[in-house]
Amino acid sequence: MILIVGGAGYIGSHINKELTNQGYKTVVFDNLSSGRKELVKWGEFFEGDLGNINDIREVFKKYPIEGVLHFAAFKAVGESVLDPQKYYKNNVANTLNLFEVMKENDVKKFIFSSSAATFGNPQYVPIDEKHPQTPINPYGETKLIVEHIMRDYSNAYGFKYVSLRYFNACGADLETEVGEWPGSSSNLIPLVLDAAIGRREDIKVFGNDYPTPDGTCVRDYIHVTDLATAHVLALKYLIDGGESQCFNLGNGRGFSVTQVVDSAKKVTGIDFKVTMADRRPGDPPELVADSKLAQEVLKWQPKYQDLDVIVDSAWKWHKLACGLLDK
Ligand code: WQD
Repeated sequence: MILIVGGAGYIGSHINKELTNQGYKTVVFDNLSSGRKELVKWGEFFEGDLGNINDIREVFKKYPIEGVLHFAAFKAVGESVLDPQKYYKNNVANTLNLFEVMKENDVKKFIFSSSAATFGNPQYVPIDEKHPQTPINPYGETKLIVEHIMRDYSNAYGFKYVSLRYFNACGADLETEVGEWPGSSSNLIPLVLDAAIGRREDIKVFGNDYPTPDGTCVRDYIHVTDLATAHVLALKYLIDGGESQCFNLGNGRGFSVTQVVDSAKKVTGIDFKVTMADRRPGDPPELVADSKLAQEVLKWQPKYQDLDVIVDSAWKWHKLACGLLDK
């Protein structure tokens, strides 16, 4: 049985679907602080909090857990600057609780949800695994600290882990079964879709004077289902005896904010209001992943690289989920 910590959240729920489709039995552990019970559509559910080590012990006692995937973390970069304690406690200290119980139960396979935020400002793009890791905010620090803890636990206790550093996770399940809960994110695509559906007055474009082709920031938008496939391959890799490893996950194509906005107008057919605004502090002009290592070692290949396909999947889910909220 595979434990999905934070499996009631955006990314965890997609991984739950993919693992189930691939024949794994899953149990979701989540405190529902931002996760939603509605997104736990497969496997077992155990409501518990990583801050309470006995909750973790209980789930390990109840189910024969062989491997753990961990998505339960706070992820708002701006908030992490204002309230670092919240981030270090949840993203680092609570993860140590999880490791402690894994150790007590001799469970050694672990997949970690890491981030491009561990790299900080890019020294070159595309960013490969050799790029220096110098985070520029507490959120990125928390992810990097856990990577270091995993490295040391791996050396000392024989833990085997895969750390997956996502670039800009986006989109929703192509069958519209799960997605990002509306109002739960400050990322570009959900905000653009909120503008399209009328939950926001406009979308603000943070800066159009960057040294990029159209002046707006370029990001690597990686579809959440492609992330899900990578997690299942990473788990298989560990089950087959693979060594601990970190991989960058992106679609390798950069899209600008303007391209995202244009795609959303095309996909939704709605001409929502777009307002030019100042640059947002801390935004690098361009972030694009080099995911060759994951492609070579895990045999992973992102499938949903077309921006319109990505935005369309997110839009279908967004309309459905906003309809649920209105009921
Ligand atoms: C994308 C682009 C904004 C909102 C963040 C974290 C990163 C990772 C992914 C978790 C940027 C622009 C945004 C808006 C805009 N998180 N934008 N108007 O900042 O690339 O990455 O999420 O691991 O660590 O930093 O994502 O979606 O916030 O922004 O113009 O209202 O859209 O300036 O260029 P970001 P984002």
